[in-house]
Amino acid sequence: MLGGGSDIAAAIVAALEPHGLQRVVLAARDPEAAVASARTMLPTLDLHGAQWDALDVEGTDRLVGECERLVGVPDLVVCAVGALGHHAGRSMSATEVDLMVRTNFAGPAAALATIGEWLAHGPATPSGVRTIVVLSSVAGVRPRRSNYVYGSGKAGLDAFAQGLGDALVDDGVRVLVVRPGFVRSSMTEGLEPAPFSTVPEVVGDRVARAVVSGRGGDVVAVPPLLGPMFAVLRSIPRRWWRRIAGDR
Ligand SMILES: NC(=O)c1ccc[n+]([C@@H]2O[C@H](COP(=O)([O-])OP(=O)(O)OC[C@H]3O[C@@H](n4cnc5c(N)ncnc54)[C@H](OP(=O)(O)O)[C@@H]3O)[C@@H](O)[C@H]2O)c1
Repeated sequence: MLGGGSDIAAAIVAALEPHGLQRVVLAARDPEAAVASARTMLPTLDLHGAQWDALDVEGTDRLVGECERLVGVPDLVVCAVGALGHHAGRSMSATEVDLMVRTNFAGPAAALATIGEWLAHGPATPSGVRTIVVLSSVAGVRPRRSNYVYGSGKAGLDAFAQGLGDALVDDGVRVLVVRPGFVRSSMTEGLEPAPFSTVPEVVGDRVARAVVSGRGGDVVAVPPLLGPMFAVLRSIPRRWWRRIAGDR
């Protein structure tokens, strides 16, 4: 779990436990805190923490080595790294924009490049397929004026993940892009929920079903209605979109 302290990542782990998930490495800036918080929810799982910062590009090689030592080549990697910036747009300084873009796009993309090759060259797995789940967002489908810094980072990561998935498809690696709407997690604490808001457990169940069944396509919206809705919303004229999105 890249971003191992994430609420959505914890919900994905919880939803996969009944399907035989046994060992998990939580890669986080504060691995002890991530393991302690996950342990309260998942007392029977074999949980490991590993120090990892998405902004440290070289650090992913170290993480891969540590994971090999702890659990071998995993069947599943989830990238749940992200920072919302509390709906800041124009108020952000150039330094803050740089940090947001590296946290939401450049850092995770660099890590996924390493991880994609790692999984592609791993020993055969019983199912024949390893999966990388990338937490994107509907915010990347059509960024809004209040969150275009976050939204553009997610748009970049989403495009990267789709291309990576196409590049790895013949090597037994599936890349599943997940686009939630507003999820009530620590990321959105204190914000007014958007329409069709959901909770981490719903995202976790949806991801677990898509991972275990291997069906449902390689892009999943949560809730599912947001998929067709944003397919339309991304095409409407900008002046209409500005009205619909408002300052949300
Ligand atoms: N919540 C939503 O409404 C929503 C909607 C759509 C998509 N998403 C995406 O879903 C994913 C999980 O979000 P969440 O709701 O579970 O929020 P969360 O609990 O805040 O999780 C985000 C995680 O990213 C980690 N992170 C941030 N910067 C990092 C860095 N430089 N290196 C390593 N880890 C870093 C955070 O670690 P620390 O604990 O160290 O800060 C945190 O564990 C994110 O990618 C988010 O963009 C969320």
